[in-house]
Amino acid sequence: MDPAWLAAAVFLLLWQCAGCTRAGKEWTYAGAVGQSEWSEFFPECGGFSQSPIDVDTSRTLHDPSLAPVQPLGYGQYGHEPFTLSNNGHTVEMPLPSWMGVAGLPWQYSAVQLHLHWGNGIGVATGSEHTIDGQGASAELHVVHYNSELFANMSQAKTQGNGLAVLGVLIEAGSETNHAYAQIFNYLGRIRYAGQRVAIPAFDVQTLLPRDLSRYFRYNGSLTTPPCYQSVLWTVFAEKVKISHYQLLKLETVLYSSRSTAPTEPIPMQDNYRATQPLNHRPVLSSFIPVSVKIYTDGEISAIVIGSLCGCIGLAVIVWFVVKTIRSTSSWDVLPSVRPPPQSRTKDVAKNLKQDMALKTTSDLGKKEEAAPQPEP
Ligand SMILES: *[C@@H]1O[C@H](CO)[C@@H](O)[C@H](O)[C@H]1NC(C)=O
Ligand SMILES: *[C@@H]1O[C@H](CO)[C@@H](O)[C@H](O)[C@H]1NC(C)=O
Repeated sequence: MDPAWLAAAVFLLLWQCAGCTRAGKEWTYAGAVGQSEWSEFFPECGGFSQSPIDVDTSRTLHDPSLAPVQPLGYGQYGHEPFTLSNNGHTVEMPLPSWMGVAGLPWQYSAVQLHLHWGNGIGVATGSEHTIDGQGASAELHVVHYNSELFANMSQAKTQGNGLAVLGVLIEAGSETNHAYAQIFNYLGRIRYAGQRVAIPAFDVQTLLPRDLSRYFRYNGSLTTPPCYQSVLWTVFAEKVKISHYQLLKLETVLYSSRSTAPTEPIPMQDNYRATQPLNHRPVLSSFIPVSVKIYTDGEISAIVIGSLCGCIGLAVIVWFVVKTIRSTSSWDVLPSVRPPPQSRTKDVAKNLKQDMALKTTSDLGKKEEAAPQPEP
């Protein structure tokens, strides 16, 4: 074969491959490179230890050795402002490397935090992790890399035990969350992908729930492509509340498209991944979870009807007992008052004949002949 042709073929192949990785990088949550297609472009997304997961508290393993999570330096934010950016998939805030987390098997250094949310229609959709099948409205992720084993994030993110992410489920309530307001107040400045804004630094720990001792722990992955299976997950049991207005703002202010895009701006919504199969991975809990079973409407009516029947039954029994006690004196004379037994069997026979009369005429005769004659 002509070496020139070979070179051309190799060049074409390489060029095509560059094209396919370029296309692969433009992933989205829905559409052509939506989450069900991620594994075609990013093979690790089809792995067996993917995140997020549904935490089934009836199957979690209580591990009393799991110590409370200790944020390190989250409150030492210095004088430098933080930077908030719209990366086309989420709102992201890099964290200074002196922040970290202890209480995990290694020392981890903070990298960034970001959020996932829904579209303002479903109340319990938007979070990535779910607990006993119940989602929350949004989820905060604080990403760390293992600074004991690795030099930096880019080295750690592909390796086992490389990353540790803290997951916080967020639900909507009536009160404004002033910690989250420190991020949400600036979303209007980064509406389009690629935009960034400097914001006053603040105590990052205020974004976490108060109780850092109750959490679920498992080995999983990044929840966005390339889905590296390098994450030790901590999902806190306590949820954080933001106001309905704050949630609405998060769900509606940002676009996943650039300001220069020729098309209509694309709202940044539903940027959460569906829960992935657990595939026999253990999920540890630092506490003994109380399974809060959520009943369906049918189950609730069954319970109500059941209890009602139970109450009526109890009332009948009580009434009968009271009546019996009251008539104890007449109880002794009851046998003599009781009608003779044969008249009762006659009644039964009469009833039986009436029943037979209701049957179809064709087998009426036969049935009446065959009807057992009551003993006198
Ligand atoms: C990460 O660390 C490796 C190994 O020390 C180094 O080669 C690489 O340049 C570093 N990357 C970044 C982004 O700092
Ligand atoms: C996560 O995987 C490591 C091995 O890579 C293992 O030692 C550790 O026990 C696992 N942790 C959990 C919570 O399953």
